[in-house]
Amino acid sequence: MKKILFAASEAVPFIKTGGLADVVGSLPACFDKEQIDARVILPKYMCMRQEWKDQMTYLTHFYMDLSWRSQYVGVLQMVVGSVTFYFIDNEYYFSGAKPYGNIYQDVEKYAFFSKAVLSALPLIDFRPDIIHCHDWQTALIPVYLKGQFSEGEFFRGIRTVLSIHNLRFQGIWDVKTVQDITGLDRSFFTPDKLEAYGDANYLKGGIVYADRITTVSETYANEIQTPFYGERLDGLMRARNNVLSGIVNGIDYSEYDPQTDSFVEFNYDVKTFRKEKGKNKKALQKELGLDQDERKFLIGIVSRLTDQKGFDLIAYMMDEICQQDLQLVILGTGEERYENMFRHFAWKYQGKVAANIYYSEAMSHKIYASCDAFLMPSLFEPCGLSQLMSLRYGAVPIVRETGGLKDTVIPYNEYDSTGTGFSFANYNAHEMLHTIQYAMDVFYNRKREWNRLVDRGMMMDYSWDASAKKYQKLYDEMLSE
Ligand code: ADP
Ligand code: GLC
Repeated sequence: MKKILFAASEAVPFIKTGGLADVVGSLPACFDKEQIDARVILPKYMCMRQEWKDQMTYLTHFYMDLSWRSQYVGVLQMVVGSVTFYFIDNEYYFSGAKPYGNIYQDVEKYAFFSKAVLSALPLIDFRPDIIHCHDWQTALIPVYLKGQFSEGEFFRGIRTVLSIHNLRFQGIWDVKTVQDITGLDRSFFTPDKLEAYGDANYLKGGIVYADRITTVSETYANEIQTPFYGERLDGLMRARNNVLSGIVNGIDYSEYDPQTDSFVEFNYDVKTFRKEKGKNKKALQKELGLDQDERKFLIGIVSRLTDQKGFDLIAYMMDEICQQDLQLVILGTGEERYENMFRHFAWKYQGKVAANIYYSEAMSHKIYASCDAFLMPSLFEPCGLSQLMSLRYGAVPIVRETGGLKDTVIPYNEYDSTGTGFSFANYNAHEMLHTIQYAMDVFYNRKREWNRLVDRGMMMDYSWDASAKKYQKLYDEMLSE
């Protein structure tokens, strides 16, 4: 039995700010249980729902040195389904209304968490063969393993894999402060190790020291070796490409299932969507104050409102988009300029545009289940889960061909009637508009073709089955080296 510990800053159902939480919360349950005992360790944030905190049980506590500080580390546990979750408790670091906020506090918070994970291991009766780290928040784990923990017999031979969910976020702060925070030896802060462009860089440390590096789609694994997508680490990514691979994300097909989803009023599957999806559309139009018309082309957006997701293209074209024969429903939070832009257009085009500037699991499911199409024109997209949810719920994705979007949405080909969505290549607002218009034309004028597109999308399998096997193979390789 191989023991794998996922270390991450978020996981459903406990805490979520984006797709990372979906991945860390759902993948560990999808491994072959005869072969892999996968567990997860997270911070215990004060902002987690009380319902979850009440169910955690206390395991142990101790005090840990973090440089010159001595800090309390509590360890709690809870089993969800077949997976054991551990939680690192410290009220000083993990208070606050959100998990992240101020990078200055975050660099200390996640240095603490990364060291606490390793320090807690000998006390919890679970010695992982592999620690699977996710993003910059846990990227110091491989570094600490090579540093202060390298002498301990217990830690000898523990392997590490670092998954990059978004190369843009690296955990950067000045060398002097990070050295003081982490207590790592000065020798770590050189340009071939943690230092990058004069600063200390957590993610870089993980990339240098992890045994394997993965990212969440094959295309993104290639893209990050180029200057445009490399976020100033493309040289390092090229240097490490012998241990770098891309494994596309899946989603939990039992949770995201239009046939059983309790957020969806009229449940449906690939056989019944023609009749039922329209009813959900009408209900949503009513709920959000849109003109009630089942035949109207309804486009959805569920997203963090950031540049990554292509909102400057949408902002540039918004007036023109709104003048088309369609409706638009947005659910998202993020940069104020985009929040206000959507509020403005909802006011300007009442009955046509609904701007929901908040976070809601329930509303997101309703949107996937009601919309005809789903717009995601990302500038870059490591994988993207929203388009997978859209496919599953029969909302045809309209995407830019980048990262995971390119790997998961097959462009519609009208000549041989194949494909699952619409896509465009260049980061260009007019290309996006034309692609929307093309989709709209198929929707209104070639309905049978449209429905077959929906059919094909709903029948794609983006559950975790295939990708969980790829991770298993990676773990096998690592342990047989
Ligand atoms: P990212 O992780 O870059 O934000 P993904 O597509 O991988 O993008 O994952 C986003 C996840 O967050 C999806 O599960 C999506 O449904 C969800 N999501 C984003 N914004 C909201 C929101 N305002 N309300 C509810 N869910 C949201
Ligand atoms: C990041 C990426 C997104 C990916 C998610 C889960 O948030 O932006 O593309 O789907 O991580 O891997």
